[in-house]
Amino acid sequence: MTAYTPTKQDKFSFGLWTVGWTAQDVFGSSSRAPLDPVEAVHKLGEFGAYGVSFHDDDLVPFGTDGGERDKLIARFKEALDATGVVTSMVTTNLFGHPVFKDGGFTSNDRAVRRFALAKVARNIDLAAELGAPVYVMWGGREGAESGGSKDVAAALDRYKEAVDVLCAYVRERGYNIRFALEPKPNEPRGDILLPTIGHALAFINSLEEPDRVGLNPEVGHEEMAGLNFAHGIAQALWHKKLFHIDLNGQHGPRFDQDLRFGAGNLRGAFWTVDTLETGGYEGVRHFDYKPPRTEDYDGVWETAKACMRNYLILKEKAAAFRADAEVHEALAAARVDELRQPTLAAGESLADLRAEEYDVEALAARGAAFERLDQLAMEHLLGVR
Ligand code: GCO
Ligand code: MN
Ligand code: MN
Repeated sequence: MTAYTPTKQDKFSFGLWTVGWTAQDVFGSSSRAPLDPVEAVHKLGEFGAYGVSFHDDDLVPFGTDGGERDKLIARFKEALDATGVVTSMVTTNLFGHPVFKDGGFTSNDRAVRRFALAKVARNIDLAAELGAPVYVMWGGREGAESGGSKDVAAALDRYKEAVDVLCAYVRERGYNIRFALEPKPNEPRGDILLPTIGHALAFINSLEEPDRVGLNPEVGHEEMAGLNFAHGIAQALWHKKLFHIDLNGQHGPRFDQDLRFGAGNLRGAFWTVDTLETGGYEGVRHFDYKPPRTEDYDGVWETAKACMRNYLILKEKAAAFRADAEVHEALAAARVDELRQPTLAAGESLADLRAEEYDVEALAARGAAFERLDQLAMEHLLGVR
């Protein structure tokens, strides 16, 4: 249906590493040939995407230097200019090369940490040149498999040092870039530092320039930890820290599935879209998923289109839910608005509350009326309202 055809106003974006994943996994080799980033940009632009994101090594393979690097960047820029697709985010690969086997910013090996910072700084220059407003830090290798091998407090000191140094760099250069930390509980490390939205939010408070740093939460990563993603991003928005988002699909706590958006926990996806659309999020709707290994490139493009289409379908469903008169009644019956009212009236103190008479039994007997509300949401999602 044309109604679900994306346009640049929808602000959808994709990582080059998503549609370009050649599907090599722990058990088998690639099932698809490499994808030229230039072709990825043209295809995504054609399908209505607004932006593209990439790791340094997605665009310029590790170790490529000098003239060859310039050439790869120049032809990528040409593709952006030709399609109007923008660079909406840039990030660093601090996990692929074996030098990062114990992490980048928090490797026990100091020389590796120094190399990691140099690699990031170089790529930040490119991000600035391409006008990317957000720089993501996903610390996939920052972690451990065993208890004694990592001094977690020291690792957090080094993590903070790295982010502080990079914040200062961006400030000194006058770049218009904000950082977004991406939490993940595990995989590829047995346990990863900053495993959830909550851990990362707390960490930001310890930084020298906390205003420059926010979050890039991913659906699957919170769900791998058994957490409610919509609640997580609602809290990130409450802290004004939702700088970017990685949308995908996941079936509960298991390996990182990176399914297309809408697959996996569909009800979770509904509330995620509702939260983004009503919660004041202004960033791109970025997809970080992996087209399954079973697919050829026709299948890959199906999944890319499906991510955007599913978002637009869910956006329509969530808006219909919010506009439904019966939902308004159910929300009132469930006292959802009442929660916005401060518990103490103006001028009241705790003493007033202590002096009040409470009919506790009557309060306890009141039904919360949440189930009717939830059923209405479900019926919108199932398409019968
Ligand atoms: C993963 C992560 C990555 C990051 C990406 C950006 O689980 O593999 O989600 O895809 O998002 O590296 O830094
Ligand atoms: Mn993931
Ligand atoms: Mn991600």
